[in-house]
Amino acid sequence: MEVDKSILLKLFEASLAADYTAVRRIGGMVARQLAEGDDADSAKSLQALLRKRGVPLQASGYVEAIPRDAGSRLPLVEEMPWPTSPLFIGGGAVQAIEQFIEDAANIALLAENGISSRLGILLYGAPGTGKSLLAGHIAARLERPFYVLRLDSVISSRLGETSKNIRGMFDFIPTKQAVLFLDEMDAIAKLRDDKHELGELKRVVNTVLQGLDSLTDDVIVIGATNHPHLLDPAIWRRFPYKAELHAPDLEVRTAMWRHFLFQDRDDNDASALLAKLSAKMTGAEIENFAHAARRRAVISKIDLSLPHILLAIASSADGTPTLPDNRPLSADERKLLAHLLAESADMPQTEIAKTLGVSRQMIHRYLRGTDDG
Ligand SMILES: Nc1ncnc2c1ncn2[C@@H]1O[C@H](COP(=O)(O)OP(=O)(O)OP(=O)(O)O)[C@@H](O)[C@H]1O
Ligand SMILES: [Mg+2]
Repeated sequence: MEVDKSILLKLFEASLAADYTAVRRIGGMVARQLAEGDDADSAKSLQALLRKRGVPLQASGYVEAIPRDAGSRLPLVEEMPWPTSPLFIGGGAVQAIEQFIEDAANIALLAENGISSRLGILLYGAPGTGKSLLAGHIAARLERPFYVLRLDSVISSRLGETSKNIRGMFDFIPTKQAVLFLDEMDAIAKLRDDKHELGELKRVVNTVLQGLDSLTDDVIVIGATNHPHLLDPAIWRRFPYKAELHAPDLEVRTAMWRHFLFQDRDDNDASALLAKLSAKMTGAEIENFAHAARRRAVISKIDLSLPHILLAIASSADGTPTLPDNRPLSADERKLLAHLLAESADMPQTEIAKTLGVSRQMIHRYLRGTDDG
């Protein structure tokens, strides 16, 4: 990677000023540059380093005034590093997100012109569609520190304590020029008329509303939920921008397989084929499958096996969660794959034979149902 000299200067400046937060943020910037420059390994090592929370500085008496839960002493928010892994999205969400980023990047200009608007975006969609990852990317694009609400510390079993924690968190944020990420928002922003819930929930939701209203215009809030229908309408209204994340479409799936399985070095045909046959998978599932396949390949020292991945995709789609392995394929499994490739991927028989490593005659027999297996 080209060393960016201005970053280097900033880093020295921050280090000598013992500005722990700035050192970490600059580290995050460098990690992203490394990742973008195709040095994912160094990016990961640097991130691991950044996660070690500055023990020497703490020993020297430096403490960050992060608000904590009174009972557990756990921090209520945490500054997280910007993500270094790429985000793949397509469809209608892209436009909404780009517009939000553009508006957020121009807050000062908007305010000068008397259009200071609340900058909050709500991300919703099924689990594993990349909401949390996207939130980190938005913070990175805006070059703002990324503060994530820690629900596990905020939600307290002690009466009244949850509201107090939420208030503490909102009091802390405005001083930070931050992106505040409220993940799993439904946990603190459920409908207040839910009959099964008691007064405590109402108080919590009201506190969240007050907190959101109390923020100055330059705090950027991102909410995320898998259950948008559970959110209180008043919360819903506090987020003028909304983006629904869907399971990835064909093009996005191709890019995901290409990245997660082939580290961007394939063979587009294989990625396109995998994308065709993984129609219902989310980004998280594709990543998980790809990593499992790569683990098998490394440990067994056998090249990545496309048929095994396809087979695992097919069984998972059938309701039996299966990760790719490296066992020899049975005749039944080869037959199933032959049908899958012919019918769902429209693959010619010679291609199927090549993919499965058997003769074309055999494929012909599999498809005609005249084999012995
Ligand atoms: N669109 C995507 N692009 C790239 N990676 C993705 C995408 N979606 C999911 N992933 C991968 O899956 C992981 C999990 O996704 P993430 O946590 O962002 O999903 P989520 O929508 O927040 O899910 P949940 O609702 O369960 O919190 C990500 O860290 C990333 O590695
Ligand atoms: Mg998430």
